[in-house]
Amino acid sequence: MAAIGFDIGTTRCKASFVDETGRAQIVPNRRGDLFTPSAIFFEDGKRPIVGVEALAEGFLQPEHVHTCFKRVLGSQEALYADADGKTYTAMDFQTILIKAIKEDVEARLNEAVDEAVITVPANFKDHKKQATIDAAKAAGIKTLKLLHEPTAAGIAHALDKKQDQCVVVYDLGGGTFDVSVLETKGDEITVLTSTGREKLGGEDFNARIETYVVELFAAENHYTPTLEADPMFFSELAEKAEQAKVALSDKTTTRIVIGCRGQQSIVEITREKFQELTKDLLQDTVDCTCEAIAETGKTWSDIDVILLVGGAVRMPAVETALADVSGISPRMNVEPDRAVCYGAALQCAIELEAMGKAVTIGGRAIPTPNVLVREVTTHGVGCCVVAKDGTLSNAIILPKGTAIPTTKTDRFALQFDAQTEARVEVLQGEEGQARNACLSIGCVELANLPPQQRPSKRIEVTYAIDHNGMITARGHDLIGGDQVEIRIDYSKGVEESGVSQTAA
Ligand SMILES: Nc1ncnc2c1ncn2[C@@H]1O[C@H](COP(=O)(O)OP(=O)(O)OP(=O)(O)O)[C@@H](O)[C@H]1O
Ligand SMILES: [Mg+2]
Repeated sequence: MAAIGFDIGTTRCKASFVDETGRAQIVPNRRGDLFTPSAIFFEDGKRPIVGVEALAEGFLQPEHVHTCFKRVLGSQEALYADADGKTYTAMDFQTILIKAIKEDVEARLNEAVDEAVITVPANFKDHKKQATIDAAKAAGIKTLKLLHEPTAAGIAHALDKKQDQCVVVYDLGGGTFDVSVLETKGDEITVLTSTGREKLGGEDFNARIETYVVELFAAENHYTPTLEADPMFFSELAEKAEQAKVALSDKTTTRIVIGCRGQQSIVEITREKFQELTKDLLQDTVDCTCEAIAETGKTWSDIDVILLVGGAVRMPAVETALADVSGISPRMNVEPDRAVCYGAALQCAIELEAMGKAVTIGGRAIPTPNVLVREVTTHGVGCCVVAKDGTLSNAIILPKGTAIPTTKTDRFALQFDAQTEARVEVLQGEEGQARNACLSIGCVELANLPPQQRPSKRIEVTYAIDHNGMITARGHDLIGGDQVEIRIDYSKGVEESGVSQTAA
């Protein structure tokens, strides 16, 4: 069985396999491209079109093309309804993408692919992870493991270098920013921490160019285009902003020529201007990186390598900002936009071997990498508790950074002695955080509890986190003996406070 990795990015999908020498390689898609844009175009009555062709079709009919939906994965919102009234969520879109990539890989490798390792941003919360597993399943892929994207890049790096090092993986993709601090020692990789920003990536850098161009266009032509009135202007601008950003990684000035309603503007953008427009975005990634290092109790002097991962690290300002703050020259050892996917295929080989399956390519056995990865939780998991003044907050049971898989039990008292019912609510968030600021991922009611004479910590709550970072929970009344499993059902959606659910 081939060892396959899928990196279903916000902007581009990649697939990889482990070759006969034991190294990971990208599987080109049916066009021969190494990346497939994460774009879907719908045409009534026809099979959805994926990738470059979807973007091309969508250029003329922007309302029928969907991109960046990974950002709202896990939301139950219908993003599209076809002529028959069938609605599609972001998860359904992910299914269409994964299916297209799976078919391309099968055609290229000439073998069926029904199991793979799939990468996800390190700070993906549970419902998004579950949506990834469900989307893959609907596409005919069993997820052998969900691997955090920076950890995947770390595996590719560690197997390449085989040195004992403390590595910071800085991963700036199209839609998300992730950072992990990991230690590599012999055949072991230990992830010390992973964090990031769920909605910060190359797309946000493009958006700054787009806003700038619209402002200049409006000032010059006394007309402000709007998305509703001028959708084609915006689809053209999105493409040109992306091209301008990429061009500014190589040269110091570029131009965008853009027209709307018979008027035209030529906007010159220098690298300096671009860096000024996006300074706060970059600073946010640097701050987040420094926070991650501080969380591990380390300082920059303990770090041996800064590994740059994700297409957006090709912006020269990334390297400069990190070098300035750390005194270290960051590295792109493995191609930055492929490292995550390479790591996924290598992890797949490890998983297959652990399951006792032969890892092959074209019928020939391949050497499997020998590495053990220790991961940690990227969010705290706790239980909703009521304070004397009635405020609801998170009492942590498993703090962020706990090595997984793991199980932990804690005990809680009821609010009142005469209470006969209790509600155990699983919150993903940090210690003491207000309930509304956490992600509520599951809830169970314990009923008919015998009233208590003297207060005690009688409600026992047990959380288990599996190797994919997925949570299961159990509530147990030590006095009455009631025991209830909390089956976390993401299909109804979860309350995600303070986070916008709209697609970018
Ligand atoms: N030369 C370049 N200069 C600047 N940005 C670039 C360059 N090449 C690619 N990018 C940007 O990299 C991003 C895509 O990178 P990548 O493929 O790593 O992201 P992704 O996997 O789709 O997203 P994510 O990991 O956030 O889900 C896009 O925003 C793209 O514009
Ligand atoms: Mg990515």
